[in-house]
Amino acid sequence: MLDLSMDLALEIQRSIKPILGSRGASEVLYVGADGTPTKRIDDVAENAALEFLRSKDIPMIVLSEEGGRILLGDDPEYICVLDPVDGTLNATRNIPIFNTSIAFAPYKEDATLEDIEYGLVMDLYNNNVFSAEKGGGSRINGERITTSKIEEIEKSTLSLYIKPGKLKEFEELIKKTKRIRCLGSVALELCYVANGGYEGMIDLRYLLKVTDVAAGKIIVEESGGVVTDDEGKNLNNGIQRLERVKIIASSNPGIHEKILYSLRF
Ligand code: IPD
Ligand code: CA
Repeated sequence: MLDLSMDLALEIQRSIKPILGSRGASEVLYVGADGTPTKRIDDVAENAALEFLRSKDIPMIVLSEEGGRILLGDDPEYICVLDPVDGTLNATRNIPIFNTSIAFAPYKEDATLEDIEYGLVMDLYNNNVFSAEKGGGSRINGERITTSKIEEIEKSTLSLYIKPGKLKEFEELIKKTKRIRCLGSVALELCYVANGGYEGMIDLRYLLKVTDVAAGKIIVEESGGVVTDDEGKNLNNGIQRLERVKIIASSNPGIHEKILYSLRF
């Protein structure tokens, strides 16, 4: 399924190329299945993705950020969890940090994020491809990657997404952290945990959907990292609906525990 994911990512990249950086790319066309505005660039990318997947004749459910749950064929064999463009705002403002995020799980009625077996995130600006297969490790452009071994928050770079008004709850963590980042492309930032760029990525706003994190989660885990919710529990959100998630992704169990501890408000 990673070969299929790669071809799908290239197709999405090809579809948005003509409108990247244009005014029309950010025009809001409708409210998507996730309840947020769908911009032209999202719509173009999703249509290209669905057309490509239909042409492959593999029966599957596609859970996509704009269209929601879509059945392709009968008797699905897979669930494809797709965010055609993650980091739409960046993509429409010439900020070169956006990606396409693709994950596959074997079909089952009650499948969750834990059932994902393949994940691929393609940086749509510089063409870097992060991928992982369950039990097979994570890679960037085919080369194995591993997470940072740093366990001290004081030495760490963390990506942190905070809801306005919730700053107090993160005070202890923010005071300790060496560097904070927030780049507006969550799937890619999970990959930065996987390749040792960050020690962690935290988003407890309850705004992210399973489509944002499905591929990044397996890429972090297969590179040696840890991914849980804000209570340290497995992310077992269903992948047949656009469920919302809270996520803490860390580069190793030691720092994960410290982050969880600092957030016990
Ligand atoms: C967004 C990005 C961003 C996060 C937003 C997401 P989208 O995804 O991942 O980093 O802050 O909450 O919605 O909407 O561009 O696919
Ligand atoms: Ca999106």
